[in-house]
Amino acid sequence: METLFSNPSYSAASSPVITPQLRADYSDFAEQVFLKTGIDLRLYKEAQMLRRLYNLVERAGCVTFREYGKQLERDPAELQVLLDRMTINVSELFRNADKWKELQEQILPSLLQHRLSLKLWSAGCSNGAEPYSLMILLDLLKPNQTHTLYATDLDQNILKRAREGRFTKNEIASIGDEKSEPYFSLVNSPSPSFRYDASPLYEIKPRFRERVQFRCQNLLADEFESDYDLICCRNVVIYFTEEAKERLYRRFFDALAPGGYLFVGGTERIFHYGRMGFEMPLPFFYRKPLRGETRDER
Ligand SMILES: C[S@@+](CC[C@H](N)C(=O)[O-])C[C@H]1O[C@@H](n2cnc3c(N)ncnc32)[C@H](O)[C@@H]1O
Repeated sequence: METLFSNPSYSAASSPVITPQLRADYSDFAEQVFLKTGIDLRLYKEAQMLRRLYNLVERAGCVTFREYGKQLERDPAELQVLLDRMTINVSELFRNADKWKELQEQILPSLLQHRLSLKLWSAGCSNGAEPYSLMILLDLLKPNQTHTLYATDLDQNILKRAREGRFTKNEIASIGDEKSEPYFSLVNSPSPSFRYDASPLYEIKPRFRERVQFRCQNLLADEFESDYDLICCRNVVIYFTEEAKERLYRRFFDALAPGGYLFVGGTERIFHYGRMGFEMPLPFFYRKPLRGETRDER
């Protein structure tokens, strides 16, 4: 069995002073965005999101969210700018390599013992690095087996990039040249999704790309399918309020098949997983017990 991997990095945003007036201004703006798009900014951590979005207010030459909101009404294109700013799309293949190793060596083989064909979901998939990582592991474990692999994100722009399946050398660095060879080809043609980067790109080969089905979905508002063997939701909820997070985890529990796993990010430990019905066989992997199995009462 092969194993592939290395380490990630992260970035942060700048900050205005948050006065009560600014909070009230932001709260009205959040209401306006909700009515316009169905995206509820109130379910994202307030200080963090306010700071990120205030940057746009300043950039548009405005002083208040109220003024910026008027600009948003006048210029529909600004809505995509807002969405781009609100979503943080940093991702890479096999992000947090040690966890992917556990997935490859323990979790997926245990699932494949019970089902030949799995149903998997990368929720908040960004540029596709995560679902393509899943696809590669499944292919390494059982080369000719077909699975259902959904990948969803709120952001249409990043989904477009994900469907192209093109990555920079850094984004696929954890695989290594030799092991990436069966899955990626080097492309030198420019890609509209990489306006600022002229370096060569690695494109997932079409027969592997077809194994992932991408869709636009808001995890905080839209319906979920059910009977998943594995849900990967990593580095997405860190921006959600505690209430939104808890509700989402409970919905993931319902969407899993008995014996299925929820795989979360390296800073996203679920403290009261037992109350939601999960057990935790390994840190950051939460399992829905099979019917009749006892579970941790945390
Ligand atoms: C930092 S990326 C994480 C990508 C990948 N899961 C990983 O761990 O590398 C976070 C992604 O969550 C998406 N996102 C944020 N809020 C969302 C929501 N309400 N519904 C669906 N996706 C959302 C963003 O668009 C972004 O692409």
